[in-house]
Amino acid sequence: MDKRPVLYMDSGIGGIPYCQYFVKRNPDETVHYLADRESFPYGPRERGEVAAILTALMEKIVKAFNPKMIVIACNTATISAIEELRRRFTGLFFVGTVPAVLPAARASKSGKVGVIATARTIADPCIRQLAGNACEISGIAAPDMVEFVDRRFAASSEDEKRDIVRKYTSLFREAGVDSVVLGCTHFLFLKKEFEQEAAPDIAIFDSVDGVTRRAESLLDSNALRANGAPRGESKFLLTGPQAADLSWQSWAGYLGFRLTLLDDACR
Ligand code: DGL
Repeated sequence: MDKRPVLYMDSGIGGIPYCQYFVKRNPDETVHYLADRESFPYGPRERGEVAAILTALMEKIVKAFNPKMIVIACNTATISAIEELRRRFTGLFFVGTVPAVLPAARASKSGKVGVIATARTIADPCIRQLAGNACEISGIAAPDMVEFVDRRFAASSEDEKRDIVRKYTSLFREAGVDSVVLGCTHFLFLKKEFEQEAAPDIAIFDSVDGVTRRAESLLDSNALRANGAPRGESKFLLTGPQAADLSWQSWAGYLGFRLTLLDDACR
């Protein structure tokens, strides 16, 4: 039995759907969520810069929370930093998030797969490697959609959500793709709109189930399960010194976690 917490992290709210799915399936585990609002967005940054941000952040997290597992619920951070994190923090389990290109490539009849993600993720050669070079990839960077979800999603209308998604599904349709991968965790908040706008000719793929199953299998195979131990309080951690505004309070409430500034937790 291992009562230490599992930590989910992202640059902002993108990891929330991943964290929520894990919490629902694993009610015994104490889970914290970290939103790195101070360094948001990661997408326009260089790989080395993202790796340095993640390394410094994980130093703090490990000291303050001693987690048994960290789920990087962010494609950009995973692609830029996970190898470095695994090298530095030996003995700590890291689960990464990468675009679900392989299942999309397998399902594609046209051999043309779309990936929508951040500029950093689209620029990374791993996208093509994940597909086993077996299909043609149309990659689109959508920084405006990352910004839209993180900053305006909660206050946006259904029309605004549809409009921003339609802009991209039209581009994919023009490119002749029949499978589109949501390669940025933020875009999970628009999954319903993607599915509606993409139907009937384009299928949408994401990594929520795959990432969750990987985390669960690591807990099982390394005897890391909490197994009925009383659950600790879950924290929604925020980087940066400024007080959390109402929108952060409501995201913490959405997960049922206690909003806490990371700097306060580290004191
Ligand atoms: N949610 C992140 C991802 O999956 C990126 C958002 C950002 O640019 O910070 O890539």
